[in-house]
Formats: sequence, C-alpha cells, structure tokens
Amino acid sequence: MSQLVPVLLPIHILTAIVAFGPGFVMPLIARMAAQEPQHGLFALRLTDRMERRVVIPAALTMPISGGLLAWSEGIDPSRTHWLLTATVLYVVAITYAILVQMRTIDRMIEIGRGMAAAGPVLAAGPGAALARPAGRSELPTETAGAATELRRSRYANPGAEMAALGVRARNGGIFLMALVVVIVSLMAGKPAI
Ligand code: HEM
Repeated sequence: MSQLVPVLLPIHILTAIVAFGPGFVMPLIARMAAQEPQHGLFALRLTDRMERRVVIPAALTMPISGGLLAWSEGIDPSRTHWLLTATVLYVVAITYAILVQMRTIDRMIEIGRGMAAAGPVLAAGPGAALARPAGRSELPTETAGAATELRRSRYANPGAEMAALGVRARNGGIFLMALVVVIVSLMAGKPAI
C-alpha cells in the first residue's frame, strides 16, 4: 500500500499546517486586542471561531491521516517510539485545547459581553441598575441582566477575572505551541528513541 503515501503524506502535512498555523498568529491578535480594548471582544470571538471552525476540526483528522500513513508504510506504532511519543503528546494537546483552552476563551467572551452590555450601568456607578424597582428601569433588561451576572463573579471585579483568564490563555497557548513544535520535530526527524 506504499503507493498511497504520495497522496496521504501531503494531506497529513497540509492539514497540520492548516490546524497549527493559526496558533502562531493568535499571540498577535491578543497583543493587538490588549492595545485596542474596544476591539477586545471581536478579537476573542475571532480566536474562538478560528479554534472551533478550523483548528480543532483539522487537528481531529490528524490521527486518521497519520494512522493511514503508518498502515500504508507498514509502520508498527507499538515498536516505533517516536510515533508513540508524538501520539501521546497529541492526545495531551488536543485534550488540553478542548477542555481548558477553549473554555477559557468562552469565559472571556462571556465576561467581555457582560462588560460591553453593562457599560452604561458601570458608568452610572455601582448598583445603579439594581437600585431601580423592576419594570421601572431606564436600562434595557439585558443590560441590567449583564450587570447582575458580573456581580455573581467570584472575582472582585470582571476586569480582575479577565486578566487572570488572559494569563491562563497566554500560557496555555505557549504550552500548546511547544507541544506542536515537539510533535512536528518527532514526525520529521524520526529519532531513534
Ligand atoms: C496521532 C496522530 C498522528 C499520527 C498517527 C501520525 C503519523 C504519521 C506518520 C506515520 C508519518 C509518516 C512518517 C514517514 O514519513 O515515514 C507522519 C508524518 C508527519 N506528521 Fe504525523 N501523525 C500524527 C499527528 C501529527 C501531528 C499532530 C502533526 C503536527 C503537529 C504531524 C506532523 C507530521 C509531519 C510534518 C509529517 C511529515 C514528516 C516528514 O515526512 O518529514 N503529525 N505522521
């Protein structure tokens, strides 16, 4: 089945570029969002959209093209240590990306939306929305709702939680990109480990 390799290898490599290329651009988006906070929510939503529509779907196909490659090249994965190591690192990376990194970005979007909607409330001073009797609020319902949601946060203020999540997202991104670099090095170098 080695005649399939010229088809499978380009598919595998191109998918890796599509899946993991954007990860190297995300720090630029984050830095611009920090410099232009008025576009912060858009930057977060763009990052989330790229992860959900491009990064994760493409990354999830890597074991399929990789498994087919191994089969067509007659590689026994249980005896090929570089492949075993890379596969374990891949599982760690994809699990972290879905369970931690994506949830962190989701929470940042939630807070960003709350902060944007509660802007008039925060500008009016603490408790402005809730001080008014229900039904007589001059603020739209969703604005008052967003303010209530922000008050429920376990952090002193939404900005503090946003900053903590920002640090987690940045460190998580560095961790994931480091794993990608190691995986690609193992795949390309095939060291005798
Ligand atoms: C569980 C998932 C994966 C499996 C089973 C797998 C398997 C393979 C196999 C069997 C090859 C062919 C090696 C050869 O040329 O003989 C290969 C090549 C390659 N893989 Fe993977 N792979 C996986 C995930 C990944 C990931 C996540 C990346 C990128 C981060 C990646 C990047 C590459 C690259 C760049 C090559 C080409 C290496 C070269 O020919 O120089 N693979 N992979």
